[in-house]
Amino acid sequence: MTTTLLSPPLHDLLSRLDALAPGQLLTLSLTREASRELLSTLTAERKGLFEWSPDTDGTAVTVEVARRDAAKGSPRGVFDALAWDHDRLDALERLAFAARAANDLVTAKAHFDRFARGLLRHIGFEEDLLFPALESRMGFPPNAGPTAVMRAEHIEIRAAVEAVRSAIGDPSIDPLPLRQRLHGALSPHNDKEEQVLYPMADQCLSRAGADDLVRRIQEYEAS
Ligand SMILES: [Fe+2]
Ligand SMILES: [Fe+2]
Repeated sequence: MTTTLLSPPLHDLLSRLDALAPGQLLTLSLTREASRELLSTLTAERKGLFEWSPDTDGTAVTVEVARRDAAKGSPRGVFDALAWDHDRLDALERLAFAARAANDLVTAKAHFDRFARGLLRHIGFEEDLLFPALESRMGFPPNAGPTAVMRAEHIEIRAAVEAVRSAIGDPSIDPLPLRQRLHGALSPHNDKEEQVLYPMADQCLSRAGADDLVRRIQEYEAS
């Protein structure tokens, strides 16, 4: 994993991204403007080639960009993009608890904060972009049906995340029961999304519709 600081020339960033092999990931620390410029260039000139997940903290944006094993121009699917984000977030959560087990509380808190910001962004784009698209396409009312179940589960997931977040850097609290609460809410939720909801989205949206939804998800910035 490599980090580039703030505002390198766009062509430098592009050549580093072009050098990635499928599956390789680069972490970039950019200004918000540089991040938007890079994403819009990738969308216009390297469509379908990269996963993209921004983590905004103040004025800087830390972006994880991964090279996909796909041909340039290939349309994106909801399952593919969002299951990638689940895996990425799970890895951050594991890093946080590995640091906590090693008594490195500062690193544990930093990793968990990144996980929490990323998961809140993920929940945000599901509720603001994915679920409304499904509701309008499938005729689900927002207060009933599968998207309503997912929204209700997000409430418990958010609460469980905040409980761990306030405990993981505190040596006087054992965070493992709180972690179990988080896993108890998040794991079955992600399984349902990956087994039912995301494939349903890919089926009911046209290929172009799913591709456009992934484009908007990549552009989504948590409020
Ligand atoms: Fe969700
Ligand atoms: Fe999800």
